[in-house]
Amino acid sequence: MKTVSRHSFGGNHGEPEFSISIIENMKEDYGLYVWPCSVILAEYVWQQRSRFAGTYVLEVGAGTALPGLVAAKLGANVTLTDDAIRTEVLDNMRQVCQLNRLNCQVFGLSWGVWDETLFSLHPQFILGADVLYEASAFDDLFATVSYILQNSPGSVFITTYHNRSGHHLIAFLMEKWGLKCSKLLDGFSIMPSSKASRISGNIQLAEIVPNVDAGEPRG
Ligand SMILES: C[S@@+](CC[C@H](N)C(=O)[O-])C[C@H]1O[C@@H](n2cnc3c(N)ncnc32)[C@H](O)[C@@H]1O
Repeated sequence: MKTVSRHSFGGNHGEPEFSISIIENMKEDYGLYVWPCSVILAEYVWQQRSRFAGTYVLEVGAGTALPGLVAAKLGANVTLTDDAIRTEVLDNMRQVCQLNRLNCQVFGLSWGVWDETLFSLHPQFILGADVLYEASAFDDLFATVSYILQNSPGSVFITTYHNRSGHHLIAFLMEKWGLKCSKLLDGFSIMPSSKASRISGNIQLAEIVPNVDAGEPRG
């Protein structure tokens, strides 16, 4: 069942500055639904808007791609990606770009797969909402993200995730992949109350960069 949800940004005391419409399909899989982590990451991009205009932004595991679309609206050059085998998710992303009249690149980028496209990506920002949800995929995700971070000096991975294990998981992954959190926030601390009341969970937002003081990643 397809529905269109509308997500507004800014203008707390009047009209929203802009809104993004997303086509969702509740009966399909993970990538066709706007997850709470995505709502929080999109809000963060909006609040940090001065950092994004004119930059190159890559979204991984984008699904319905709300954070990347907000970055595009703010004037970033945006590439939206998801698992290459999930063609229905990639097709939906293209439709959502058209619906919002946003010109983003869309293609398959499967974590842990070393194809030519990966080597040519040099974003300033990598966005990933709710991409840390299946332990068996963590190594593939971090192999890809660490490679892009190392290959794009000064870049940062900004991710939102459900915090199910205190800070142990993120600390372990940072150590393993030679990365560090340059910022770690409670996701709800940045949410306007009107939006926070519609979502639930213990969601963290982390900005992740290479740890130049660490040795080689252990992965
Ligand atoms: C929980 S959903 C989050 C979707 C979206 N970011 C959001 O927060 O609404 C996880 C996303 O990761 C994508 N994904 C899962 N495994 C992947 C892989 N191996 N490579 C690339 N994307 C993957 C899924 O297709 C899905 O879109």
